[in-house]
Amino acid sequence: MHMRIPYTIWAPIYDRVVEKPTLNVRRRSLERLGNVEGQTILIVGLGTGLDLPHLPQGADYHGLDLTPAMLKKAEERAANLNLSINMRQGNAMDLPYEDESFDVVILHTILAVVSKPHLALAEASRVLKPGGRILIMDKFLKPGESAPFRRLLGLVSGPVASRTDVVFESLMKKRKELKVLEDSPAMMRGWFRHITLEKPATGETTPETAPEPAATQDNPAA
Ligand SMILES: C[S@@+](CC[C@H](N)C(=O)[O-])C[C@H]1O[C@@H](n2cnc3c(N)ncnc32)[C@H](O)[C@@H]1O
Repeated sequence: MHMRIPYTIWAPIYDRVVEKPTLNVRRRSLERLGNVEGQTILIVGLGTGLDLPHLPQGADYHGLDLTPAMLKKAEERAANLNLSINMRQGNAMDLPYEDESFDVVILHTILAVVSKPHLALAEASRVLKPGGRILIMDKFLKPGESAPFRRLLGLVSGPVASRTDVVFESLMKKRKELKVLEDSPAMMRGWFRHITLEKPATGETTPETAPEPAATQDNPAA
């Protein structure tokens, strides 16, 4: 569990570095939740709980993170918000939850952090109810993208914060049970993406590839 040490060091300064630059993109990502009345929702890699102020009321929330120091910050934030959320320490690649427990699983900047992102996505899918959705906001390379600067950056950032070499389409190769509902640029010219996945309730077929990202101000080239 080698990311526990770096994130224990990050915990006291994480919000100062991450909160402002991710505020809009986080808010937009969580708008996808819509009406959550009666739903059970899991946030994997909860961190210091920067998502918590943007969560709509009405759901039964659960949050999991590997790093106790990050969870402590999230607990303090939840208490200040008077938000009811059940938090526990655990591993995104081996989730301590029963199959088909959640209506929604939120994966905000966690797939590019863990050592085996395909396992983390498989676990998110396992604990998701049929008909449920996975909401992703993270940075990915596109298939075949060389991105030398980002790959170089990953040599430094990978061991202490986040990888830069994860190709989302590769993660999906073994996730035929999931369907891509949305794949759009979130920020930094599409390096960060909003991706919504659904686990169809019945044996619906799923597309082989994600839809082309839509053109936006962030990603005019799409
Ligand atoms: C980049 S932070 C993202 C935190 C939060 N999702 C956010 O959007 O601000 C990554 C988080 O993942 C946690 N983490 C790292 N490896 C993990 C693992 N294997 N299982 C669960 N959490 C993990 C870290 O402790 C850290 O809190």
